[in-house]
Amino acid sequence: MSNGKELNFDGRVAIITGAGQGLGRHYAMELAARGSRVVVNDVSPLKAQAVVDEIVSAGGQAVADVHDVASQAQSIVDSTLEAYRQLDIVVNNAGIMREGLFCEQPMEDFWRVFDVSFRGSVELTRAAWPHLVSSGSGRVVLVSSNGLLGAAGVTAYAAAKAAIWSFGNTLAMEGTRVGVHVSTIMPTAWTPMSAASWAGRPEVASVFRDKMVPDDVAAFVAFLAHQDTSLHGGLFQIAGGNAARLVLSRFPRVAVPDRTAEGWAGAASRLEEPSGELQPFFATADHLFDELAAIDPAVADSLRDIPAADLFT
Ligand SMILES: NC(=O)c1ccc[n+]([C@@H]2O[C@H](COP(=O)([O-])OP(=O)(O)OC[C@H]3O[C@@H](n4cnc5c(N)ncnc54)[C@H](O)[C@@H]3O)[C@@H](O)[C@H]2O)c1
Repeated sequence: MSNGKELNFDGRVAIITGAGQGLGRHYAMELAARGSRVVVNDVSPLKAQAVVDEIVSAGGQAVADVHDVASQAQSIVDSTLEAYRQLDIVVNNAGIMREGLFCEQPMEDFWRVFDVSFRGSVELTRAAWPHLVSSGSGRVVLVSSNGLLGAAGVTAYAAAKAAIWSFGNTLAMEGTRVGVHVSTIMPTAWTPMSAASWAGRPEVASVFRDKMVPDDVAAFVAFLAHQDTSLHGGLFQIAGGNAARLVLSRFPRVAVPDRTAEGWAGAASRLEEPSGELQPFFATADHLFDELAAIDPAVADSLRDIPAADLFT
């Protein structure tokens, strides 16, 4: 149940990268249908233009942009300003997957995955940042993946998506100071990318196709990107109508009386198969205080008044 207030994007301008197909296309359609002017970025000119045509024929406003996020981020911002003279929202959606075992994958494939997903998100967000600050209610959505947890054959994708999470977690702390909200999602939905991943498992593919539709993720992205949404700084899993916040957490600490390599060898099973209550961490400071508290509680207490986000500045 919504609280009855329509989330309208009239007067807003959004860049959606990789919006020629898949999730990005749905984000672009959703924001445009709610009144945003949308820059549909994709390296495929045909796909980008097709989405623009779809938006315009439905009564919305959009322009195509065909720059590569990995190397031409500034040009995406430039063409946005040329078309609409402002920028309020960036959805860093473009990403690619190239599979291969780490010791076999050509390094150019590894770094291309990183460049599109991570460098593209960083450079576009950097080029957009002053305009998002000027907006007064700038919004950045970053796209990570449950792939960050890892599976054999996807080291580049996993590492790039983990880097995005850490980038967004930190950027959000800086964004708080200037009115720019940053959120990161781990989406799951039926798209050309997921269809390719599940091509060999039709039973899983059919659940994706029927029950994990991109519109569900697009609704969540529209919620995060809206100027009235206070949610900020989180990493959210979203699939179907279910979302959850994810955090880094630790199991109970393992202390060894004998602080030698042999002492740790004696504790190996407690580290390998940990159990007990999880302690979540949201910022570097949370973790540092937790470590200090285990070693010198008085020093940890003396730091507690420093806001976690401001530890280093
Ligand atoms: N589909 C899922 O279930 C899923 C799961 C986890 C994460 N994701 C992430 O969501 C995002 C979108 O995924 P999708 O499934 O819609 O992918 P997709 O492959 O269907 O679409 C990606 C789009 O990005 C474009 N693109 C690729 N390189 C680009 C570049 N350098 N510059 C601009 N555009 C570029 C492609 O042309 C394509 O249109 C990706 O970042 C992906 O990693 C998707």
